[in-house]
Amino acid sequence: MSDDIGLWLQSVTNRVNSELDQVLGSHLTSSRLLEAARYSVLGGGKRLRPALVYAAAAAAGASLESADACAVSVELVHTYSLIHDDLPCMDDDALRRGRPTTHIAFDEATAVLAGDALQALAFSVLSKKDRRSDAMRVKQLKLLGDAVGFTGMALGQATDLASEGRVLELNALRFMHEKKTGVLIAASMLMGASCGSTNSDSWKALAEAGRAIGLAFQIRDDILDETTPTKLLGKEQGRDQALGKSTFPKLLGLDNSLAEARRLVAEAHLALAQLDGDTRFLKYLATQSVERSH
Ligand code: IPE
Ligand code: IPE
Ligand code: MG
Ligand code: MG
Ligand code: MG
Repeated sequence: MSDDIGLWLQSVTNRVNSELDQVLGSHLTSSRLLEAARYSVLGGGKRLRPALVYAAAAAAGASLESADACAVSVELVHTYSLIHDDLPCMDDDALRRGRPTTHIAFDEATAVLAGDALQALAFSVLSKKDRRSDAMRVKQLKLLGDAVGFTGMALGQATDLASEGRVLELNALRFMHEKKTGVLIAASMLMGASCGSTNSDSWKALAEAGRAIGLAFQIRDDILDETTPTKLLGKEQGRDQALGKSTFPKLLGLDNSLAEARRLVAEAHLALAQLDGDTRFLKYLATQSVERSH
């Protein structure tokens, strides 16, 4: 990583952390529910999705300020999805981001409600008037809504749970991973780009890159679950096997899964090469989606 990219990544991470801290401020009236939400959102996390928002905004010539609401909203939705994903009725996990999961640190009902409230807050933040035009805000609300609902993340999560104890064939596994993880990652890029200007070819190329990065990211998540010690991972190693999940390593083996993830990253780089703007940050994040250690 060049120094420029490292500094940029640090600065957008700090930026979204401080925005998240403000958005989850005491104006929401302090409560155990808010405490649980702050615990979940502000307790670490790589902030990949906000970084993708800012990177796509940069590629579309938009300012960081105009992308803040999108960056905050995708991280709020992502954190909500993690809280619910860890619940006993889903993956039943006790460790997340190196700390007890929300339902362990608080209680199950509070975790469910904190997730609900974070999802609602994401849309509220996104709707708020700022530098973005009304048309941009409406477009972004739809992008996020479509990415997390019946045709997106919720569908993917439902498919994941229904597939426990079975071995999905490759296309079905791809579908599940694209839905549960890929669509929010792709939407993060499109939302960022929609803060600036992109022609229809660039938009298609970004959507294509987002699809490839999103799937590659979840394949890497499956690999890390098998290979990476709990301490480094921040979540318990080996849970997928214990839960009988359908994963890429289970179907293809570790080496072929990594090769597939890298092939997808190469595809993403090709798509990004069609864009005119500054794609350095997007290209770096595409590579990182697979070459990350946790
Ligand atoms: C974990 O996402 C859940 C998946 C969709 C694979 P991340 O690996 O981005 O989790 P954090 O935000 O860094 O904790
Ligand atoms: C989670 O996939 C996807 C979402 C949270 C939408 P996983 O269940 O594999 O994520 P981890 O491994 O618990 O982070
Ligand atoms: Mg899961
Ligand atoms: Mg899980
Ligand atoms: Mg996983």
